[in-house]
Amino acid sequence: MAIERTLSIIKPDAVAKNVIGQIESRFENAGLKIVEMQLKQLSKEEAEGFYAEHKERPFFGDLVSFMISGPVVVQALEGENAILTNRDLMGATNPKEAAAGTIRADFAESIDANAVHGSDSAASAAREIAYFFGK
Ligand code: PPS
Repeated sequence: MAIERTLSIIKPDAVAKNVIGQIESRFENAGLKIVEMQLKQLSKEEAEGFYAEHKERPFFGDLVSFMISGPVVVQALEGENAILTNRDLMGATNPKEAAAGTIRADFAESIDANAVHGSDSAASAAREIAYFFGK
């Protein structure tokens, strides 16, 4: 199986709940390594650029406001099948639909305050990792 990298964000709701360590444990226990990592406050421009593909969606303004409401952990995770492994660990976008035992089922409140972001494809992972970490 291929070794991949994926972009992960621990969102402001999860940082505020003080569960960074619990979320990182799930990645580590699944064999994903943290190869880049930064705790940072996103600017409005950074959040708008990151989510540019959603700029016509009705929730775009709310999504950007939420993502700049507090610090986030931006990181690259590496491992076998990392993109899908991370998506499986995260669970569905809407925590009410997320499978039991997933990060969103256990730590997220709502479809906007949903604890984590993860790249959804190899192309997104490459673009998103480059957006925050260069190369
Ligand atoms: S899609 O169609 O699959 O691209 O969209 P989806 O994955 O469902 O959502 C993309 C990101 O937008 C966030 N989102 C919302 N934010 C605020 N309000 C509402 N109603 C809302 N619906 C979706 C969702 O959390 C996704 O964020 P990321 O960071 O990409 O997981």
